[in-house]
Amino acid sequence: MAAGLFISFEGIDGSGKSTQARLLADNLRARGRTFTLTREPGGSPGAEAIRALVLTGDPGRWSAETEILLFTAARRDHLERTIRPALTAGQVVISDRFADSTRVYQGTTRGDLRDQVDRLHAMMIGTEPDLTFVIDMDPAIALSRGLARRSGEDRFEDFGIAFQQTLRKGFLQLVETYPSRCILIDGNRDPALIAADISARVP
Ligand code: ADP
Ligand code: TYD
Repeated sequence: MAAGLFISFEGIDGSGKSTQARLLADNLRARGRTFTLTREPGGSPGAEAIRALVLTGDPGRWSAETEILLFTAARRDHLERTIRPALTAGQVVISDRFADSTRVYQGTTRGDLRDQVDRLHAMMIGTEPDLTFVIDMDPAIALSRGLARRSGEDRFEDFGIAFQQTLRKGFLQLVETYPSRCILIDGNRDPALIAADISARVP
């Protein structure tokens, strides 16, 4: 897409994505690289407003189809206002989640909606990261980590452990589908070891 490098982190809730995104940013800073650390849903004022709609409230608040539209709307704003400008400026963009989350969360967990996700993505986003780190983790450990934070944004964690098991399978499948950009990372290790593994793979 542009001169910079676009990196995303993916995985189930509580797998350590935010921690590793931050540690990669620290590593890039030490290397003297310019970067933008961002997240989805969110990463721009408009997308953060949509974040509040999708992540709070009753688990049944939105259907999966409505969520596809909301997450994609947030992503479009994020892309226009934050990601593209940073890449054009030659920066590394580190995004805590991107379109793969919609493929897995909305595309596979409540019926097979993957085709709708892919068609809307092609029409409205049309961009993939250069590199995607998929952090793999036992859902029982990850869920206890995630809920321990009690962020108030627990709508998806509230779907429970079976839902997280389905998500894990979805993310593993994703690595097989996109082998050229996805790298599977074992999240059951010391955070510093995981970070060293990840930063060694970033050019
Ligand atoms: P995510 O962004 O995937 O939800 P976080 O990075 O926020 O995950 O991590 C969830 C919780 O687990 C946090 O309290 C964090 O400090 C802790 N954590 C992150 N990575 C590890 C790790 N490798 N080992 C143990 N705890 C971790
Ligand atoms: P996030 O803040 O990364 O949560 P966590 O730190 O618990 O992993 O993401 C918020 C939730 O939004 C998370 O449960 C995954 C969900 N989500 C989707 O369902 N679809 C999407 O497209 C995105 C980006 C996130």
